[in-house]
Amino acid sequence: MQTNIIVAMDQNSGIGKDNKIPWRLNEDMKTFKSLTKGNCIVMGRKTFESIGRPLKNRINIVLTEKKDYKQKGVLVANDVSDVLNIMKEYGDKDLFVCGGSRVYRSFMPLADNIYITLVSIKCDCDTHFVYEQSYLWNEAKWKYDKTIFLQRKNEKNEYNSRMLLFKRAN
Ligand SMILES: NC(=O)c1ccc[n+]([C@@H]2O[C@H](COP(=O)([O-])OP(=O)(O)OC[C@H]3O[C@@H](n4cnc5c(N)ncnc54)[C@H](OP(=O)(O)O)[C@@H]3O)[C@@H](O)[C@H]2O)c1
Repeated sequence: MQTNIIVAMDQNSGIGKDNKIPWRLNEDMKTFKSLTKGNCIVMGRKTFESIGRPLKNRINIVLTEKKDYKQKGVLVANDVSDVLNIMKEYGDKDLFVCGGSRVYRSFMPLADNIYITLVSIKCDCDTHFVYEQSYLWNEAKWKYDKTIFLQRKNEKNEYNSRMLLFKRAN
């Protein structure tokens, strides 16, 4: 099993505002879908509630400290070790960590890969990724692997954006 962080952030490491993602990027959504399809995704309770439904064709895991939390079509985990136990049942699948902030922080030490979409804008975000972009360019920790897409602003993509893949060094 590979553990993948997947995140889109602005030039200030912003990822969200008012419990929503503050941009519309069709290419990023398409790539998110194709990478995560058939795999397991884990997200925080607020991100799940902001989407409002499980994402189809994947195992949806929602992290919450609420012991009695139940939602149709999702598996509930109360901490990281619950997520890892669930993953044992899906040994052939990879895990994609889909945010938000605390969820990224919790899984960063376990991550094999980081798919990061850099959005060319400074939004007034209220939620941020745990690390600034410069952290990923520290070759002792992360190695740039490839560019997954490079998308110019157009009618379906509000801002210029590019998704990069970093792999853990060692
Ligand atoms: N740009 C992106 O790539 C991206 C991706 C995802 C989300 N977002 C944005 O980020 C914002 C939401 O993120 P957020 O950080 O506010 O909230 P969040 O991480 O989605 O949810 C936070 C909640 O998740 C639960 N949780 C998180 N880590 C946990 C852990 N280690 N163990 C147990 N429970 C845990 C807790 O739920 P309980 O309170 O129920 O205990 C916590 O209050 C929204 O604006 C969303 O649109 C952006």
